Amino acid sequence: MTDSFYTEIIEGLTKSPKTLPSKYFYDKRGSELFQTIMKLPEYYLTKSEYEILNNQSGEIFNDFSAKQKFDIIEFGAGDGSKTKLLLKEFLKQTNNFVYSPIDISKSALKGLEQTFREELPLLKINPINDDYFSALESMKNKDTTKLVMFMGSNIGNFKYNEEVDFLKLMRKNLSQGDCVLIGFDLKKDPRIILDAYNDKSGVTKEFNLNLLKRINSELGADIDISSFEHYPTYNPITGEAISYLISMKNQQIRIKDKRFEFKQSEPIFMEISKKYSTEDIEELALSTGFEIIKNYYDCKHYFADSLWRAK
Ligand code: AVJ
Repeated sequence: MTDSFYTEIIEGLTKSPKTLPSKYFYDKRGSELFQTIMKLPEYYLTKSEYEILNNQSGEIFNDFSAKQKFDIIEFGAGDGSKTKLLLKEFLKQTNNFVYSPIDISKSALKGLEQTFREELPLLKINPINDDYFSALESMKNKDTTKLVMFMGSNIGNFKYNEEVDFLKLMRKNLSQGDCVLIGFDLKKDPRIILDAYNDKSGVTKEFNLNLLKRINSELGADIDISSFEHYPTYNPITGEAISYLISMKNQQIRIKDKRFEFKQSEPIFMEISKKYSTEDIEELALSTGFEIIKNYYDCKHYFADSLWRAK
């Protein structure tokens, strides 16, 4: 992992504008910070999806209409606190399925496995520590019916329509009739969205700066963390919430043998968290080889879990 970490960090900082891949936010500290974010009053996403799964998991099970045996594969499972609600409901009906949570964070995955083994003793679980694209490969050639889960609006993290390529690739590794359940954060009052990435307590700022700290500690870099400021944005037309770190001064940073120049006020593109309308969701499903079975909403219509079937 260290190798691809180094290569992708260097690649990102060599680009213009500079960018850092947000998938590297999730080291041990980063995963902890994200768990704190999920509890923030401003971060409505987790609460909305929790409400959906708390109230509608039974309905999701019926709509998925599982055959005798099936596989549940979850991309970016994280700590699994929301998925637990769904699996609990599923286990009331059957335990004839294997649950494979995939996550890039070893520590989050370990935590998930431990809680699930304790709290859902009937569950057959097969954790996979990997990134999305390698995990897609491992899905191929399994002939049981699949339910692929991609929750928490993780899909919003893809840049430049890469979610289209990702979903097409996923479709290729599925058979007709397999299902996916995808969490979408919905377009809404832009102030509510911006606040979710600009919390008063500064945890989201810390979450972004933590990647710089990780670069310092894992790659022996010399970044002056205090010279970068967190700058979150939201564009209500494109639905893109984008976070930047801004260099507060002209400076040079060194990562191993590489040096990078920053101008005062120069941004680093850190993370995109895209928001969707129901029309956007429909279009995405159609253009990637799926049909929508149903959208499940929270009472405020802030969030949707969308159940799709491979056509
Ligand atoms: C875990 C990718 C869904 O984009 O909302 C939270 C990560 N970033 N606050 C998101 C995140 C800043 C989160 N996802």
